[in-house]
Amino acid sequence: MKKTATLIGIFICLLTYAQPIKKHIAIIPEPVSIKQGSGTFILPSSVMIEAGSQPALKQVIAVLKDRFSVATGRNVLVSTTAPNATIRLVLGKRKEDTIGEEGYHLLVNAKNIVITAEKPAGLFYGVQSLLQLFPKEIESKSLIKNVKWEAPVVEITDVPRFGWRGLMFDVSRHFFTKAEVKQFIDDMVRYKYNLLHLHLTDDEGWRIEIKGLPKLTEVGAWNVKKTGYFGTFSAPTPEEPNNYGGFYTQEDIKELVKYAKDRFVNILPEIDVPGHSLAAVVSYPELSCTPEANTYRVRSGEEIMDWSKGAPPIALVDNTLCPANEKVYEFLDKVMTQVAELFPFEYIHVGGDECPKNYWEKTEAIKQLMQREGLKNMEEVQSYFEKRLEKIVESKGKKFMGWDEILEGGLAPSAAVMSWRGMEGGIEAAKMKHDVVMSPTTFAYLDYMQSDPIMEPHIYASLRLNKAYTFEPVPDGVEAKYIKGGQANLWTEQVYNMRHQQYMTWPRGFAIAEALWSPKEKRNWNHFFARVEKHFERFDVAEMKYAPSVYDPIFTPSITAGNQLKIELGKEVEALTIHYSFDNSFPDKFYPTYTEPLIAPKDAVMLKVITYKDNKPVGRMIAMPLTELRSRVGKK
Ligand code: ACM
Repeated sequence: MKKTATLIGIFICLLTYAQPIKKHIAIIPEPVSIKQGSGTFILPSSVMIEAGSQPALKQVIAVLKDRFSVATGRNVLVSTTAPNATIRLVLGKRKEDTIGEEGYHLLVNAKNIVITAEKPAGLFYGVQSLLQLFPKEIESKSLIKNVKWEAPVVEITDVPRFGWRGLMFDVSRHFFTKAEVKQFIDDMVRYKYNLLHLHLTDDEGWRIEIKGLPKLTEVGAWNVKKTGYFGTFSAPTPEEPNNYGGFYTQEDIKELVKYAKDRFVNILPEIDVPGHSLAAVVSYPELSCTPEANTYRVRSGEEIMDWSKGAPPIALVDNTLCPANEKVYEFLDKVMTQVAELFPFEYIHVGGDECPKNYWEKTEAIKQLMQREGLKNMEEVQSYFEKRLEKIVESKGKKFMGWDEILEGGLAPSAAVMSWRGMEGGIEAAKMKHDVVMSPTTFAYLDYMQSDPIMEPHIYASLRLNKAYTFEPVPDGVEAKYIKGGQANLWTEQVYNMRHQQYMTWPRGFAIAEALWSPKEKRNWNHFFARVEKHFERFDVAEMKYAPSVYDPIFTPSITAGNQLKIELGKEVEALTIHYSFDNSFPDKFYPTYTEPLIAPKDAVMLKVITYKDNKPVGRMIAMPLTELRSRVGKK
């Protein structure tokens, strides 16, 4: 009996060992189908890549070569015919099924890897997924020893849900160099974004050379460097030089367009008019309705608009182009001619957002325009402007796109709308059978704070990761065919450098990438967050920055009937434990664990909290003054 039991025990042990230990697959965005087999592929000491010689495959191969040699130290060779290739990149159909422009099949066997796609872009995305199957050390920029360079045996079939998977980068509020824009492109393609929206002009800087309009970049590209909270800066004094900023020459733009195209990214240029145009107005004051425009300077972050009465804002200086001035349309014709030549993408974005009307209201020429054209109000004046601009854009062979304000006063006939003030503008435009890109503040604004305002550089509002993850670009009651896709927008008022750019973009960029690529029915927060943490580890190796804000608790204060301060601590990640102190010392895991709302001791001044996961500190130490919490009671 004893012997039988022992034998059974041994058998169970053997079974357990014989079970393949499946490696956790953590691809972002989640692929359509993953069939994991048993076993692993082990990278040999010499890696042979077999790929066609098409120019479009150059970057696909370059990424593979780079990532499989730098960190691993492997010798990587490429050939057009290699019967025993380690990695084969195959252009064509694998079966009769269609996987379109960007889809791919990825097959990892114990012996080799095959990626098949109908188009080079698909192979590029297959490579991105493949890299995510290897250990995180593959992200290293230098050789790492003693890593088992293996990937799980798996078959992946993948196609994107939307063709428009955008990230907007505001290079006007703060200028980012050509090299930095290239880095932005390198980062976005890892997560299968395929559209870079460059916000090229605003009150703070005009960033693109236009031949024949030299002042746009001699004058309009430069302001005064200020540090602190943008929007509250002191106005520049005459002694402060306008020497902060920069612009892209037309050669730079061509280089960026090519760099992006090689990585299967289109660049959507935005020329933001008629509002947000101070840099253009300062360069050419005759484009303004306001004579004193010739005394203005490019904005350096001082207050410019009064929002206290809602939209449209009241401008404190006239930052608009004048719709009643024919010179404005001549100017825009010149600009759009060159923009259309430089950017092969089918759309030009013309802004249209947040245009103040208070200077127009005072302008005699605008009154005459209204009479002549039968325009009833200022929204119709803007609509008149947009319709004329649409004709200009279309005369250059391009399609016209603007922010959802272009709906006000009547939408130009074939305009596409980028919906930012929630989804409503997009819904209205789609119902009118116009194309729409959804980029609502509510889910997709990467400039918003990611956790408690006490921890983040201040900006208008907050957007936490779990909210971004619920972004659904196709609202109920709208025909899906009008929703081209979606986009996350990184405005850079408070973003001064690339490290902070990365902090703001990731991990919310993961969430939006998944909303735009992965099937809706595969959306699952817990599964997503498990993968996010794996990608945090990859970012650590790659020395890329990301926000750890998701680990910060959510503070909800209230006052009890006995006038005590009660504090509820919420969390985005269920598995966190929160430890706290009221005695000003620094909590760790040996401090009390939060289990129910706290009542602040009568004389306490500070609540300090830290979060742990799996026995390790993951959150930042937050020091929350209780006066701050009291001041928030009852406020949203
Ligand atoms: C915008 O955020 N003003 C489009």
